[in-house]
Amino acid sequence: MKPAENKAPVWLYDEFKHAGVDYANTAVARDYDEHHQRFRDYEKDAALVLERLGIGPQHEVIDFGCGTGAFVVPAARACKKIYAIDISPSMLDLCERKVKAAGLDNVELRCAGFLTYHHNEAPVDGIVSTAAFHHLPDFWKVVALQRMHEMLKPGGRLYLFDVVFTFPVDTYQEALDGWVDSMTQKGSQAMAEETVIHIRDEFSTFDWILEEILVRTGFVIEQKYSDFPGCLAYVCIR
Ligand SMILES: C[S@@+](CC[C@H](N)C(=O)[O-])C[C@H]1O[C@@H](n2cnc3c(N)ncnc32)[C@H](O)[C@@H]1O
Repeated sequence: MKPAENKAPVWLYDEFKHAGVDYANTAVARDYDEHHQRFRDYEKDAALVLERLGIGPQHEVIDFGCGTGAFVVPAARACKKIYAIDISPSMLDLCERKVKAAGLDNVELRCAGFLTYHHNEAPVDGIVSTAAFHHLPDFWKVVALQRMHEMLKPGGRLYLFDVVFTFPVDTYQEALDGWVDSMTQKGSQAMAEETVIHIRDEFSTFDWILEEILVRTGFVIEQKYSDFPGCLAYVCIR
């Protein structure tokens, strides 16, 4: 690795500043799994992602924004190697503990992000990012996808799951109010507050913007899934 290649330009977006929810906060990280496992099944979700990507025991995968290892831990049992990347030391610490408790030795954890991770090894077979991409503003999403494209083998696949807006542009106020209200009605004040932070301080975007960015950075969108309310998952091939 040549040091000059890894020197960040002064104009680079500071992805470590945690726009929106502060996942570097140890209390946020500590409560994450308990909160998320109320509405997610990590094992089942990971199996579905691996199946959709066609990933098996001979394959290497990068997980961007890996968090506490929702995908990393189950996926590491099923593939050759996982690079687990996140900007939050607190989330990575929990991920590492789970990796060790599971006796896994094929996970490499790195404290870095979409814009700052340098993959100095051979290109990988798959890249996964779940509920993390909305932390980048749209211009930086383009840069991140271009970087991910370079980290993938030709024919490798990207699985991008995120909160994505699909409502007509002129209905944005009702759509966003409705989203917050639906969280309040579900009885979760914490989720409603997190939804407000998501809208105000994070960078979810429209499906037509994200799809244009994917295509312009060289990906072919093979599948688009909407299994989870308000979210989309894209399977793209390099
Ligand atoms: C909602 S959590 C999702 C975690 C995990 N992927 C999951 O499915 O549970 C978002 C994660 O993205 C990470 N994150 C935020 N901005 C990032 C960036 N620019 N690069 C990499 N990770 C980032 C946060 O630290 C946090 O762990």
